[in-house]
Amino acid sequence: MHSKKIQDSKQRLGKDLAILAHHYQSDAIVKHADLIGDSLQLAAAIPKLKAKYIVFCGVNFMAETAAVLAAPHQKIFLPHPDATCVMADMAPASLVKNILEKLGQRKKIIPLAYVNSSVGVKALCGQYHGSVCTSSNASKMLEWALNQGDQVLFLPDKNLGENMARLSGISSEKVQVIDIRQRGNNLSLEKHSDHKMLLWPGVCAVHFRLKPEKVYRILNDNPQAMVVVHPESHPDVVNLAHESGSTSKIISFVSKAAPGSTIYVGTEDSLVLRLQKEHPDKNILPLGAGYCSNMAKTTPEFLAETLENLDKDNMVKVNEDLAGLARTAVETMLKVSS
Ligand code: 13P
Ligand code: SF4
Repeated sequence: MHSKKIQDSKQRLGKDLAILAHHYQSDAIVKHADLIGDSLQLAAAIPKLKAKYIVFCGVNFMAETAAVLAAPHQKIFLPHPDATCVMADMAPASLVKNILEKLGQRKKIIPLAYVNSSVGVKALCGQYHGSVCTSSNASKMLEWALNQGDQVLFLPDKNLGENMARLSGISSEKVQVIDIRQRGNNLSLEKHSDHKMLLWPGVCAVHFRLKPEKVYRILNDNPQAMVVVHPESHPDVVNLAHESGSTSKIISFVSKAAPGSTIYVGTEDSLVLRLQKEHPDKNILPLGAGYCSNMAKTTPEFLAETLENLDKDNMVKVNEDLAGLARTAVETMLKVSS
């Protein structure tokens, strides 16, 4: 029933409508999408889209980033208004602002925010001449950020930051997680004076479920098996895995594997289940991350309802002052990583 309603709306709206879906959306949503991608692909697509209505099946930071990049005549919609991201919520802009002010007292601090962050945090990145990154370009953006000042504050994902620091060859003594308690008053500037990279203590609630003991056990019991994980996973999990990367990189790793391979995939299960269906000649197994409860909020029912109400005033809105600074930070990413 909802599928039929979605198809009817698509037909009615034609070229005026574009439905975008992140790889973590369920098959019931993905089958209606005009474009499916990882966070970088979906953000990079926005400036090229001609559609008047862009419906973003994902979570709020993705739709907000789209709103920041969209042309004035375009309207962005998020089918479920409460589809947030647990990790993004771990870095409230007011606290990030206090911490940047404190760290900026002694050094030129460059914030580099994972795209999984609020518009307020992205605006602070623009204000402090930093930028944003996704899991596809985090390593390149970190290299860029290290050249812009004395110290990089990477936020909110501690694991992605640590994994990228290792890839960039930064020694572990130069990287430290900061104390965000007491509105930043606990931070000791002396303690961090020699650090090149400071990490915000945030994590993804889904990839947090992946444990190194399990990967170790799998590889011990089945030395032929391969393990591919998302870099939001703990560094010990990433170090044990054969490969790590964005959702697109995971998809490409699985596609390139030889028929008959056994591959444990450490990322959100909607994507793992799709890979199982698309590669019946390979033995694809979930490593145990489970589902993202926020990604799962978008159902055909909410999508159908959104498509029927595009002319009501329910589009994603971002504060214009914040949007300008956030746009600077996101456009820097698109330029540096292109
Ligand atoms: P990517 O698709 O960029 O790898 O993002 C993963 C993710 O956790 C999005 O919330
Ligand atoms: Fe946020 Fe993790 Fe869900 Fe992605 S998978 S939306 S990072 S909680």
